[in-house]
Amino acid sequence: MQPTVIAPSILSANFARLGEEVDSVINAGAEWVHFDVMDNHYVPNLTIGPLVCEALRKHGVTAPIDVHLMVEPVDGLIPMFADAGASHISFHPEASRHVHRSVQLIKSLGCQAGLVFNPASSLDVLDYLLGDIDYVLLMSVNPGFGGQAFIPSTLDKLRTVRAMIDASGRPIRLEVDGGVKPDNIGAIAQAGADTFVAGSAIFGKSDYAAVIAAMKQAVVAAR
Ligand code: DX5
Ligand code: ZN
Repeated sequence: MQPTVIAPSILSANFARLGEEVDSVINAGAEWVHFDVMDNHYVPNLTIGPLVCEALRKHGVTAPIDVHLMVEPVDGLIPMFADAGASHISFHPEASRHVHRSVQLIKSLGCQAGLVFNPASSLDVLDYLLGDIDYVLLMSVNPGFGGQAFIPSTLDKLRTVRAMIDASGRPIRLEVDGGVKPDNIGAIAQAGADTFVAGSAIFGKSDYAAVIAAMKQAVVAAR
């Protein structure tokens, strides 16, 4: 199991002052910045692109930026985000015609590569790709919007992927995204996640440090 990472999703941040918002969550104890990219094609919503990632780096953000691509296709945007300062890039396998090639592209640009699975998606591609990736991201909501409720069947799926990762012996992170809150993060950690995305649970409160501390305490208590 990798050390715990809390990755606030900036989807729920105040975009009119995004740099300060990111500084605030990092100062409040978050390890990564989760950066949701939506294209109004793979998902119904439309968000932010490489220019905003680059702007955060220019603002002085040094924390890992975990780019979650909810776009189709993916290969054109991967080099743009690598150039813009992404440290981690994940995509949904059904959004790439050649999944292995897209993973290799991310790795060749010096970024960590992740594969993302929707609530109804099977894990089949992991049979041949677990040896090539750095993290698995399980969606615990359907992608496209913040503020949705955690889908409970994700817990079984987390246990399945945790067993696959442990059997591989590789230092692969298991990330979960959607509806993660202080009151369910313990059960999610027990099911095997080590990397926790949370948008509305953090940015929806005024005291970011208090929420992040509560989340970390719940993870420690669950282990
Ligand atoms: C949904 C995004 C999530 C979202 C999570 O498509 O991938 O990262 O921001 O938001 P919450 O934590 O509010 O469910
Ligand atoms: Zn996300």
